[in-house]
Amino acid sequence: MSSYDVIVIGSGPGGYVAAIRCAQLGLKTACVEGRETLGGTCLNVGCIPSKALLHATHMLHEAEHNFADMGLKGKAPSVDWKQMLAYKSSTIETNTKGIEFLFKKNKIDWLKGWGTIPEAGKVKVGDEVHEAKNIIIATGSEAAALPGVEVDEKTVVTSTGALELGKVPKRLAVIGAGVIGLELGSVYARLGSEVTVIEFLDAITPGMDPEVQKTFQRMLKKQGMNFVMGAAVQKTETKNGKAKVTYKLRKDDSEHEIDADAVLVATGRKPYHDGLGLDALGIRLTKRGQIAVTKEWETDIKGIYAIGDVTEGPMLAHKAEDEGMAVAEVIAGNHGHVNYGVIPSVIYTHPEVASVGETEATLKDAGRAYKAGKFSFMGNARAKAVFAGEGFVKILADKETDRILGCHIIGPAAGDLIHEVCVAMEFGASAEDLAMTCHAHPTYSEAVREAALACGDGPIHM
Ligand code: NAI
Repeated sequence: MSSYDVIVIGSGPGGYVAAIRCAQLGLKTACVEGRETLGGTCLNVGCIPSKALLHATHMLHEAEHNFADMGLKGKAPSVDWKQMLAYKSSTIETNTKGIEFLFKKNKIDWLKGWGTIPEAGKVKVGDEVHEAKNIIIATGSEAAALPGVEVDEKTVVTSTGALELGKVPKRLAVIGAGVIGLELGSVYARLGSEVTVIEFLDAITPGMDPEVQKTFQRMLKKQGMNFVMGAAVQKTETKNGKAKVTYKLRKDDSEHEIDADAVLVATGRKPYHDGLGLDALGIRLTKRGQIAVTKEWETDIKGIYAIGDVTEGPMLAHKAEDEGMAVAEVIAGNHGHVNYGVIPSVIYTHPEVASVGETEATLKDAGRAYKAGKFSFMGNARAKAVFAGEGFVKILADKETDRILGCHIIGPAAGDLIHEVCVAMEFGASAEDLAMTCHAHPTYSEAVREAALACGDGPIHM
């Protein structure tokens, strides 16, 4: 029996980051992972492979739509789907091997297999039981099932199967206009699939700033995606590799069907903690099946912690990473801190969409007085030069104090631009602080500064 200061269960962004930080803080650390490779859902079948496909298909889109205008003549490239999937796989491999290297460098033992917790202080992997003064559960999430819809990962797929389809489907039905549905939907739309997104609500991307939602949907429609809004999917049926999706419109309860060659089910994810033995240990779950934890990420059992998607909060890799670093500090006897008010979220479509903090809807609900400074990328020289003038930056600031409360961006490099606002918010900055900061010309980031200026005396280029 080997014994450790910390055993982390799960090697996704939460787990592997926690393991590395624990080791850096001098704790003898092991990480349990049953997959063939480290990195969890994000690196193997989530964030990273989808970004590879988004990148490749964006290049195709640029070649088809913008190259000729820039004087780049010739035929647009044709799609070699097998090669595109191979490129995607090589991206996964470089990243998962990278984590393996970091584990070796930090002397973290990889306990290969699926872990269970037979009792506090012990983790069983295969036939071996290991002792652990502290255990961190970082087992992530899995696609939530939708009644009436049977996933076979061939014709009716979750995000995992959508990254491995045998061929590009002629017609793709996407159930759910959330992050997964829109990212993977746009991959296939760019590859030439006829994509129809069926969404229960009346707006796409629930929880996002309403103005961004509208602009985003309009831009996706322009790119060829079809939307059926206010529609609850009832069932899917498959026959000879083809599918039929039945949905009901909420406004009049009428029933409709569409045929598809593939169906992507993207209606949310749920915490994954099967087989850990939580029941027997007496670890409490929330109503939504998440592991209940204290402010220091400890479960009901002393010395057993949980972080990431398996706990409450946004299911985002970077939220899990932050909790991973923080819980390591707690275990090492230090202070661990995560600012849940400043967790950015990004959708990696083209254009990208990014947001942080409050939306106009949440501020109105809370009855808070605020001002909104908005700047269109049409006023940004750099964006216009690269056919990216659509979209805007909106900064929300407290009406009295000018303190930045939130930011919403739809436009080029939104996922990177959002971070200067995150840093500003961490420092409690005002919109004027951002507006007074020199921004290099010509960069997209000038649009952020102009939105900050719009919270005060007004932007220059509009
Ligand atoms: P989601 O919760 O973002 O969206 C699901 C959508 O499905 C909602 O709009 C919902 O109204 C709709 N829906 C539910 N039942 C339906 C039905 N019967 N018929 C029609 N529509 C229905 O879930 P998604 O996209 O599956 O993502 C899961 C999680 O993964 C999210 O928490 C997301 O933040 C995370 N994620 C984040 C990424 C990023 O940060 N770029 C990328 C991929 C996933």
